[in-house]
Amino acid sequence: MIMKHSLKFFFTTSSAVKNFPDFVVVALVDEVQWGYCDSISKTPEAKQDWAQKMFEDDPQHLEWYTQECLLYQHKYKAHIDILNQQLNQTEGVHIFQRMFGCEWDDETGEVNGFAQFGYDGEDFIAFDLKTLTWIAPKPQAVITKHKWDRDRAHNEWRNYFFTQQCPEFVKRYLDLGKSSLLRIELPSVFLLQKTPSSPVSCHATGFHPYRAMMFWRKDGEELHEDVEHGEILPNHDGSFQMSVDLNLSSVTPEDWRRYECVFHLSGAKNDIVTKLDKKVIRTNWGKTGILTLQCLFNVYMYFAMNI
Ligand SMILES: *[C@@H]1O[C@H](CO)[C@@H](O)[C@H](O)[C@H]1NC(C)=O
Ligand SMILES: *[C@@H]1O[C@H](CO)[C@@H](O)[C@H](O)[C@H]1NC(C)=O
Repeated sequence: MIMKHSLKFFFTTSSAVKNFPDFVVVALVDEVQWGYCDSISKTPEAKQDWAQKMFEDDPQHLEWYTQECLLYQHKYKAHIDILNQQLNQTEGVHIFQRMFGCEWDDETGEVNGFAQFGYDGEDFIAFDLKTLTWIAPKPQAVITKHKWDRDRAHNEWRNYFFTQQCPEFVKRYLDLGKSSLLRIELPSVFLLQKTPSSPVSCHATGFHPYRAMMFWRKDGEELHEDVEHGEILPNHDGSFQMSVDLNLSSVTPEDWRRYECVFHLSGAKNDIVTKLDKKVIRTNWGKTGILTLQCLFNVYMYFAMNI
């Protein structure tokens, strides 16, 4: 389970995408968006009440973000131009992405930073905090790696940012926003199945924080085989969802009762345990036929009435 708190920034620089700003930054704490900035408005926007209040109470912090937003906007515009040249791609739409930030484990105090770049949707280059050098997974990024490795002062500054400043920000934001960021909300858990031969999906939705874990158990023991874990995804209301599928094709019906799905949320007293039971599985199986007929009927009526 993810036990760490995190602060992440996603930068997107694009060229020639119609009706879309050239530069966009999204800021997340514990995977919840709290800030935004783009090349059109140029002023950072708070997306959470606590962040709004923080910017009002501490205009210097807002000013810092304003400067960063402006600085990186120009810096990355230059990067994308250089990359387009280096890769001989002068025409069309290109996207340069940067994800950076840090994680802080509130139990061990361990701190971890990361900075990575993508070009046209693929990994391009990543920073290695241990050696303070860049890792180029592709030959096209080697020129950039050598160039950026030589900028030692900036790499030292990155080290300071990731190990000192960024974790301080995480702690500060968690404290300011604790009533929303650290709130505990248990999810609804459902068992879903597409067809009688499909895996059974245990689906939890509406939980908070994202520091959660879900697994299938047989006779009280966690299962690793025939299980597929989905990612934790954000819902629109600031809560999260996730699924874990269990393939039951080799399990006899009598053995079903030995299985259960367990949802565990960091900070919550009790787990949510859902026993595998045919009666509680939700499915659309068998209903699709009716839907299709209904649909055909509607199409028929549409034409009938328009003739
Ligand atoms: C780009 O084009 C130049 C000259 O046409 C060539 O020397 C170079 O290898 C090309 N670079 C890439 C990454 O394809
Ligand atoms: C479930 O497991 C069976 C064999 O154990 C396999 O043939 C089948 O492809 C699996 N189904 C899925 C959806 O993974």
